[in-house]
Amino acid sequence: MTAVDTTRFVTLEGLEGAGKSTAMAFVREWFEARGESVVTTREPGGTPLAEELRHVLKAVRDEPVAESTELLLMFAARAQHVERVIRPALSAGHVVVCDRFTDSSRAYQGAGRGMSSEVIEQLAGIAHPGCNPSLTFWLDVPVELGLERAAAREAADRFEQEALAFFERVREGFVRLAEQYPERLVRVDASAPIDAVRARIESTLEARYG
Ligand code: TMP
Repeated sequence: MTAVDTTRFVTLEGLEGAGKSTAMAFVREWFEARGESVVTTREPGGTPLAEELRHVLKAVRDEPVAESTELLLMFAARAQHVERVIRPALSAGHVVVCDRFTDSSRAYQGAGRGMSSEVIEQLAGIAHPGCNPSLTFWLDVPVELGLERAAAREAADRFEQEALAFFERVREGFVRLAEQYPERLVRVDASAPIDAVRARIESTLEARYG
């Protein structure tokens, strides 16, 4: 697999209802205003096959989904997405902005479900060797506020049906990731007014890419 320059690979992370889509628009607009071509995408998903896996993963079903099944499907979708979309776009010189990436697996399947972080890192090594984001905005929102916003938007998917305690663990997972990757992971207070969120994102982009 050829090496790819990931300097301009940016991801957005956070709980449901954190405002990732709005933040994504701010990131896209900032780069586009500087004449850059931006590819925005999401996980799980981003290719037809990976979007099918997204549907499979989010569907509410009677059959309990094993934690390892969920983890492997996430990484199956990611492997396809990286191979078909992210690597080619970076190689072609586009900025790539992705709504969720492996930090979501670390937070949801790792901290939330209790899957081993060693296994998760092994899968990351298989699914996207040498292809990791250089900058990650973590939109941090209090769990209850995020879930309220998400519930107002759509019917609960399989993840959104989890108990509050699950999302508390996921948020704790993001807290630990921010400690583990202080250079890459930038916390944005997503309960702040929208102008403040935008200003924080733009000043970070200015410092990194201006
Ligand atoms: P969303 O992107 O629309 O919020 O939905 C994706 C859901 O999938 C969300 O509940 C988080 C979850 N998820 C994981 O559990 N692990 C992952 O690696 C990714 C990308 C998403």
